[in-house]
Amino acid sequence: MERRENFGSRIGMLLAMAGSAVGLGNIWRFPYLVGEYGGAAFIFIYLACVFVLSVPIMIAEFVIGRRSQTNAFSAFQKLSGGRKVWKIPGIMTIVTPLLILAFYDVVGGWSVNYLLNALTLSFTPEAAGTDFTAVFAEYIASPWAPMVGTTVFLLLTALIVLGGVKSGIEKFGKIMMPTLFIVVLFISVWELFIPGSGEGLKYLFKPDFSKIDAGLCVSAMGQAFFSLSLGCGTMMTYASYTPKDESLGGSAVKVAVADLLFALMACCAIMPACFAYGINPGSGPGLIFETLPCVFTQMPLGSLVAILFFLAIVVAALTSTVSLYEVGVSYLIEERHLSRRLSVTIIFAVMIALGAVCSLSFGVLSGLRLFGENVFGIFDKLTANILLPLGGLAVCIFVGWILKKEDVREEVTNGGSLKAMNRLYPVFLFLVRFVAPVGILTVFLVNLFA
Ligand code: PHE
Repeated sequence: MERRENFGSRIGMLLAMAGSAVGLGNIWRFPYLVGEYGGAAFIFIYLACVFVLSVPIMIAEFVIGRRSQTNAFSAFQKLSGGRKVWKIPGIMTIVTPLLILAFYDVVGGWSVNYLLNALTLSFTPEAAGTDFTAVFAEYIASPWAPMVGTTVFLLLTALIVLGGVKSGIEKFGKIMMPTLFIVVLFISVWELFIPGSGEGLKYLFKPDFSKIDAGLCVSAMGQAFFSLSLGCGTMMTYASYTPKDESLGGSAVKVAVADLLFALMACCAIMPACFAYGINPGSGPGLIFETLPCVFTQMPLGSLVAILFFLAIVVAALTSTVSLYEVGVSYLIEERHLSRRLSVTIIFAVMIALGAVCSLSFGVLSGLRLFGENVFGIFDKLTANILLPLGGLAVCIFVGWILKKEDVREEVTNGGSLKAMNRLYPVFLFLVRFVAPVGILTVFLVNLFA
């Protein structure tokens, strides 16, 4: 059996986890949800979900991963002594990442195409005044261009997973994540100076609590799982490579803070532009592709900023898709005894088919709808709002109620050697046993009956 590759160093590990968390979820999904749900009220509930649900659940996933030292599918089985019911969350760790990849790859593909647009100088000052909303609508409805982008993006993911994580993505990520940070910061600061941007800031930071309803809460909770890569085995898989002396709580907090920072900055780079250029913030998944081109065409060195931005987005998305892809590959290698090459190829074939359906659901397949959503929307909402929280619920029950308390304590406090975690352990246990499961179930039930 092939061994799963290990990360080279502790910092490499942390970067891989942050790389999995920071991605299109922060730059693309978060701003569009904030826009759809009316601004600051969504951010407020999201923050609560991150600290009350996501951080403890991330630590709980780390506990399972590091304790079991195996892939996410078998981890529950191994630690529960082979109890059949724990096969279910195991199976979910295979299905959910693939469903996420299906629509995520499409957005990755859009980013590849927009990178090409930036490289062919489509965002120069001469293009100012172009209706980028219409351009985007026409682009995603066309059958081929987005499919080509998606295929290229998927191919890149497959090659990285095939070639190994350490030398490729880890090194590239170390350069591109800080680049992304600087570029997004630059765009946000620039936007403070464009006329009309104040409205956007007000929208972002002045909560209107009357906007909080069940739908908003479900989406905020779903995003708190999605953005932190929780509920589907990715963090568990990465944690199985964590050194024994690493503080699981410390790592979780670092990842969560980095993730939050990127998400909030992305909003600052997008919302003011919506108001300044008259773009509806609630326009949905296309939001960044409609607003940012307007900004680039009017900015000094806009073409260069556009190239750096879309390049960084593609890389940030890749560090996330690699983690999603790796969960399935590690299952095929360790449980089905296939070679890495064959495993990568099988998943590639499945993803091309699913990706095509998602991509075409904006064009020829747009008639295929459930509750008003196209296939892309169904995959997006089904995974983030339902499957990931359910996966999170399983993790809470498992760590809070099934695992031996001494074992959990040993993992969280590193055998009692971490002072801060010794003190915080009861809080962690309370959150994982009671607050998180009750919170998740309440949001589900309220949404069902509201
Ligand atoms: N967290 C990633 C992002 O924000 C997406 C992701 C979800 C990755 C679930 C892995 C697992 O882009």
